Amino acid sequence: MPDTHPIASSRFVRACLRQPVDRTPVWFLRQAGRYMPEYMAVRKHHSLLEICRTPALAAEVTITAAERLGVDAAIIFADLLLPFTPMGLDFEFVNGEGPVVHSPIRTLDQVRALRTDRTDDLRYVSEAIAKVAKHFAAPPANATSDQDQLGIIGFCGAPFTLASYMIEGGSSRSYIETKKLMYASTTSNELSSRPEARSAEAERPAFRVDATAAWPLLMDKLITVLAAYAQQQVEAGADVIQVFDSWAGALSVADYRQYCLAPTTELIRRIQSFGVPVIYFGVDTASLLPTFRETGADVIGLDWRIPLDEGWRALGLHSDGTAPTAVQGNLDPITLFAPEAVLEAHVKEILAQAAGRPGHIFNLGHGIVPNTPVDAVLHVVDLIKRHSHTTPRTSNEPTSHAIRS
Ligand code: CP3
Repeated sequence: MPDTHPIASSRFVRACLRQPVDRTPVWFLRQAGRYMPEYMAVRKHHSLLEICRTPALAAEVTITAAERLGVDAAIIFADLLLPFTPMGLDFEFVNGEGPVVHSPIRTLDQVRALRTDRTDDLRYVSEAIAKVAKHFAAPPANATSDQDQLGIIGFCGAPFTLASYMIEGGSSRSYIETKKLMYASTTSNELSSRPEARSAEAERPAFRVDATAAWPLLMDKLITVLAAYAQQQVEAGADVIQVFDSWAGALSVADYRQYCLAPTTELIRRIQSFGVPVIYFGVDTASLLPTFRETGADVIGLDWRIPLDEGWRALGLHSDGTAPTAVQGNLDPITLFAPEAVLEAHVKEILAQAAGRPGHIFNLGHGIVPNTPVDAVLHVVDLIKRHSHTTPRTSNEPTSHAIRS
């Protein structure tokens, strides 16, 4: 979409908009998590959901992680599944098992019973965002800070990934129940022709709801709830919204196009209408990247399985170095366990592949896992700060920063 945003006050937001930056911004998926002793200290006294639902605790955990690491963005501490509660679907986190939904959604009647009118119950997340925004709006106490404004990231799940938890009742390997519900909603028209690829300039496809089929109705209800939830987060001070489609990689390109592209596009379009850029993220998505571009997301998250430059080309990077989308990624989170020299080489390789083009946000390809050494994460932040730096811009050259070898 045309960039109508003013020059943002944070290098993270500028990079999301492919505006020039003084250096590559960096943050980490799951930067507040079990690998971090400060998080575990809070976790000792509170359950995960208690932290999420108590704005003071969620804000504290968010701020502590961002400040401890010295990153350029703070992602609000919350969970993907929180919107299930106001929709009328109970769930809990069972130790060692992950999330469990006790009455998974399997029928049209169950989808019809899901509520979309209680999004106000999620206000605790935007209250936490308001606290984080207030904290980072104040001038930094830390004298070594470079004065850049930290970006504040709100988030929600994408329709497919959230539906998969609702339908499977938890994490899944094969998504059998999810795909059964999806395939059962196929119309006879769709059987004879699959949706075709469109050029990036074409109108984004409209999402039309068929209220007699479970899958499209579920997609529609999720869009309604997630858009309202994202709007609350933006109004509270989120600069960017990340849409997690963590498990979209389980779908073939044709199935993604047929069952998920239009609802995902609709959600992203609505969030953008609130005036913020959207980061769209999934895992194992190399083959889906050209289709992801059609969602119109401002930034696409890449996992580590595809080299960053190859992923960016799949998203439409031109040979002159300009690109229609920004990219975020894509270090393998397990390299944080590697010897320092190996970790350094991998970080520098990613910076080299980004080649100083505007629109790269350094991150992992997926979340930090428990037992990751905090020092390794700090080392990556330091490497990014030292090895990506400004170069003077020449006439038409799009490059705003480059890598020091
Ligand atoms: O710092 C941050 O990244 C913010 C916090 C955050 C959490 N969940 C807290 C959390 C974020 C961004 C999420 C999103 C989320 N939740 C996703 C998408 C991101 C991804 O990883 O692809 C998903 C799939 C979920 C659902 C979920 N929450 C699962 C499957 C699990 C269990 C996984 C495990 O490792 O046990 C959770 C639990 C969870 N959410 C934890 C945290 C820090 C770890 C458990 C804990 O502290 O008890």
